[in-house]
Amino acid sequence: MELVGGNDGIETWQEVSLLYNAALHQMETKMEILNEEFQHVHQYNPIEHIKARIKTPESIVKKLKRNGLDSTIENMVNYVNDIAGIRIICSFTSDIYRIAEMIKHQQDIQVIKVKDYITYPKTSGYKSYHMIITIPVYLSDRKVDTKVEIQIRTVAMDFWASLEHKINYKFEGDVPAHISQELVDCAKMVSDLDDKMLQLNDEIMDLGRK
Ligand code: GTP
Ligand code: MG
Repeated sequence: MELVGGNDGIETWQEVSLLYNAALHQMETKMEILNEEFQHVHQYNPIEHIKARIKTPESIVKKLKRNGLDSTIENMVNYVNDIAGIRIICSFTSDIYRIAEMIKHQQDIQVIKVKDYITYPKTSGYKSYHMIITIPVYLSDRKVDTKVEIQIRTVAMDFWASLEHKINYKFEGDVPAHISQELVDCAKMVSDLDDKMLQLNDEIMDLGRK
């Protein structure tokens, strides 16, 4: 892979991955703190679990190529928004918005882009709340605002997305029509299940307060 030095004094893949790893660690810690505080104040955990990953150099290069861009560090940093990715899995749809708001209100975080595929699901049936944010990473001599893609979804949405991803991968995007239709039907069931579980939970919480 041919890589040419970029802005912010980032020159090599090693430096890039160091920055994105640091950004991910910070986001994970922030999420753990929010979860613990929430447990303390409201006696429940909005976050079921968290997955974090760094995109491989191969898949970054593939993405740059797909967008007609040269494989330079500068292009990676400027145009690939999901080099660092964190997925936050919650129990209930209401937790998703609660967590998104808490992230938006953190002073050191800058929100670059939000895509609400829960209010506006994709035609595939995909649901999730996406944010691209930057978080400052402090190096020995400077601060680098580093991009992180955040995906927030319920356990049920995550279950659906994993299977759909696996199916797409298997058929290399050319999924038979009846399977796509069944996936759309499943997405509807997932939504109904999420609504039902939230309603049940609200009822139980109400009873607990009485
Ligand atoms: P890329 O897909 O990463 O090029 O980004 P984009 O600009 O199209 O952004 P978008 O927010 O639509 O998607 C970002 C990520 O969300 C993807 O890389 C997937 O991880 C996930 N995603 C988006 N759409 C789907 C979908 O239909 N099914 C599944 N399983 N995942 C999806
Ligand atoms: Mg992606």
